[in-house]
Amino acid sequence: MFTHEDLSALQANSLKMQSWIRQQTFSPEMTKTLRRFSSWEVAELIFQINQSTFRGRLAADPSLPAGEVEADGRQRWYSLDEINELRRRMKVNRKSLMPKRPAGKRAVRCAIANFKGGAGKSTVALHFAHAAALDGYRVLAVDFDPQATLSHSMGLTDVAEDHTVWGIMARDLERETNRMNTASQGAESGTALPQRKIPASITDMGLGDLRVNDFIKPTAWPTIDIVPSCANAAFVEFASAQYRHMNPEWSFFAAVSRYLDAIPDDAYDLIIFDCPPAIGYQSMNAVFAADVLYIPSGPGYWEYDSTTSFIGQLAEALEDLSHGFSHSFPAGKIALPKVFQDIRFLVTRYEPGNELHRAMVEAFGKVFGDRLTDHPIEMTRAVEQSGRFLSSVYEIDYREMTRDTWRRARSSFDRAYTEFRTTFQDAWDQLEDEQ
Ligand SMILES: Nc1ncnc2c1ncn2[C@@H]1O[C@H](COP(=O)(O)OP(=O)(O)OP(=O)(O)O)[C@@H](O)[C@H]1O
Ligand SMILES: [Mg+2]
Repeated sequence: MFTHEDLSALQANSLKMQSWIRQQTFSPEMTKTLRRFSSWEVAELIFQINQSTFRGRLAADPSLPAGEVEADGRQRWYSLDEINELRRRMKVNRKSLMPKRPAGKRAVRCAIANFKGGAGKSTVALHFAHAAALDGYRVLAVDFDPQATLSHSMGLTDVAEDHTVWGIMARDLERETNRMNTASQGAESGTALPQRKIPASITDMGLGDLRVNDFIKPTAWPTIDIVPSCANAAFVEFASAQYRHMNPEWSFFAAVSRYLDAIPDDAYDLIIFDCPPAIGYQSMNAVFAADVLYIPSGPGYWEYDSTTSFIGQLAEALEDLSHGFSHSFPAGKIALPKVFQDIRFLVTRYEPGNELHRAMVEAFGKVFGDRLTDHPIEMTRAVEQSGRFLSSVYEIDYREMTRDTWRRARSSFDRAYTEFRTTFQDAWDQLEDEQ
């Protein structure tokens, strides 16, 4: 017979193994580091210019970053900081290499969501974050999933519970309740409204004192930060339900959106949300804060089936919110019903040679029309191989695997990212000036 103690013992063993893997992968300091990128990658894959043009520019201006040459190699290898300096200082055909960003707007926010487990959400979120950073964007990732796949793959393992989305939500409950209490005290109706009470167990945690930046952690990528998650799954959903009970008027679903509104507009360009495989308090916060909803799905029938029920349940949940809160919607910049600038479906783990996959993509296209992206993400061993090193295809050194496998995987993610970029840039252009 087995109890929770057996489960704990099994977990302890597993944690030892996890730690060993990290040691092997991130050694020597157990912190993740970012590799350098070869001049071939910088020219052809990142700046998309001719290698000889690139070499010519470097030769013409010795003050440009020179990268490093490895002992046995001839290529130069550049850090992302150096690449970004090159991007700022070089022009090709009089055109800037800087990525497009509408002036004066806040970062655009995209949720990668589907309640189907294993749809490819975290893989897509990780690869889009990396592709965008290589494209010159400053990215904030928000991990809404207590499985913490994205946090772990970005190298964050020791995360305190109160520094996660749960902390943001509990902090918001406290702040919003205080705000409502102050507002009702000041009401001129003469009848003082009852004060809403939050138990000391919450106020004593000191979350109210946490600053916006306390939730944001740096990653191995100089232009990617993350609001990480940690294993507290059941607890967060359970606690959130209790919090709602304490103050039923609390717009729990807008907590993260309000939090993000407090980040300076110019701090980031793109904010990417990795969602848990469930519709709950955390995923509703992600969806609610998003300008763009990106829904990945595998290419099988059951994945299609599940995606269909996901959008149905999400529609219902969003409609309920619109009714439940429409008369008393409190402070915050978001109006109800929730409006997305765009919603797109992305097929993942696609095998072009598989007849069933091709048929499913065709069916997706018939059903979702323009909302289906043109470029599915292909099934590739490179994801598995780089994942073994807790890395993305962008992070792994291409010399670690068959060049062709790496190249094909990268092109597939690049095509999907380029389409994603068009989507978020259009959404960004449409964002109203919220100031
Ligand atoms: N393009 C791909 N090629 C090969 N394997 C892939 C690809 N995309 C995802 N996978 C693999 O599929 C599995 C599930 O992917 P992922 O973790 O991204 O899904 P998820 O939707 O985030 O899952 P969860 O719902 O548990 O959060 C992982 O083992 C991942 O490595
Ligand atoms: Mg995931």
